[in-house]
Amino acid sequence: MSSTTARAVPLAYGGYHARQTGEPDHLLCQVGRGTPGGEYLRRFWQPLAYETELGEVPLRVRALSEDLVVFRDGSGRIGVLHLHCCHRNSSLEYGVIEERGLRCCYHGRLFDVDGTIIDMPGEPAAERLMKSTSQGAYPVQCFGGIVFAYLGPPDRVPVFPMYDRFDLPGVTIVPGIRFKQDCNWIQIKENTVDPHHTHVLHVIPQLRGMEHFAPEFGEFPVFAFTETSAGVGYLAARRVGDKVWVRSAETIGSNLHAISSIFESGRECKQASPPFMTIWALPVDDDHTMTFYLSHVVAGEPMPFDKRRFLEVFGQNDDRPYRERQWLPGDHDAQVGQGAINVHETEHLGTNDRGVVLFRRYVRRGIEAVRAGRDPEGFYLSQADVPSTFANDRVVDAAEVTQAVGDEGEDRDVLLRFSEHLAREYRIRPAMAYLKEGSQNRS
Ligand code: FES
Ligand SMILES: [Fe+2]
Repeated sequence: MSSTTARAVPLAYGGYHARQTGEPDHLLCQVGRGTPGGEYLRRFWQPLAYETELGEVPLRVRALSEDLVVFRDGSGRIGVLHLHCCHRNSSLEYGVIEERGLRCCYHGRLFDVDGTIIDMPGEPAAERLMKSTSQGAYPVQCFGGIVFAYLGPPDRVPVFPMYDRFDLPGVTIVPGIRFKQDCNWIQIKENTVDPHHTHVLHVIPQLRGMEHFAPEFGEFPVFAFTETSAGVGYLAARRVGDKVWVRSAETIGSNLHAISSIFESGRECKQASPPFMTIWALPVDDDHTMTFYLSHVVAGEPMPFDKRRFLEVFGQNDDRPYRERQWLPGDHDAQVGQGAINVHETEHLGTNDRGVVLFRRYVRRGIEAVRAGRDPEGFYLSQADVPSTFANDRVVDAAEVTQAVGDEGEDRDVLLRFSEHLAREYRIRPAMAYLKEGSQNRS
């Protein structure tokens, strides 16, 4: 062996040699205006508040490293304005909501919801100034009780994408709550395409005596990862008794993800399960994220909604004592535990992290598209271009798997082939199509 050959780093007691620090991937993680990532994120509608939060005073929020106020004026219109007044920078969070617009508390400039100034009390040059000055404002859309704003260039505003899972017979959309995570948005979104964690992290409560996810999640599945029509997804296939259950979830565009029920047991055949939650992650700034979600509630759901609400939020925020979060950790604890901005250089990825790799690649492609002056994937100018979504549960008899993909090879090969078969099928016949027709259940 040559004397210049590097000495092997010991695997046991290798702490002295192991790298613990590194640079975050700034291209992916920065969210401010003018940064590549921030310009990418400004091509998507971002959630700012629930409509129920808008009352008699303005709501201060932070989004993509910008401080803003959201308000509903006396005539019912919603405005999103820069926080600091364009006169002398006082904060509009102390402003007075009027029948039309929001009046700054300091010297009384009155701003309409589009940021134009409609009153400048006592200002002799008001007419001239009102023609040359305005308050920064952004377009607004409401959906599912959530107020969204578009912080990108106003000359090319995408439609608010109405995905197929938002409009299904017998399924009602119920607004959720928002919760803050003290970390970068990428590590929040990666969680959706990291199914490896569902049978580890989400099984800890079961092992420690708490009912949370269905017990069948504890069975280690076989994973397939794929780019989908709307983003990046996975399929996780398990045998449950004489059935095969294939759960799928999906990250849609940059900031949305879709999951089916955490109570699914995979014991009853179905063509497609109804959606369970649709979740947006608002990048607040580089190291904070705010999550907003909708619950999709099926008529006659056996679980009382209060119990479901408790379980769907459990572990998603920091509202529990530290000791309890150590004992029963949830997504929040695992994600924030990666650090304020997870350093990808110090990770050691395995085969099951392929969804994470695909998602980072997807976002990087979007960033490069925006840098090159193109629209990123997930940006649609027409509702007709909005693709079908993917996330659902398919449960079939084992014989159907054999019929579709044969039984050659080890069982994991068979399950993988069946998952890939479904991934192809969902592109041709979207899972939500069964629900639109009311035919999710199989006899
Ligand atoms: S600072 Fe707002 S009106 Fe003067
Ligand atoms: Fe999770």
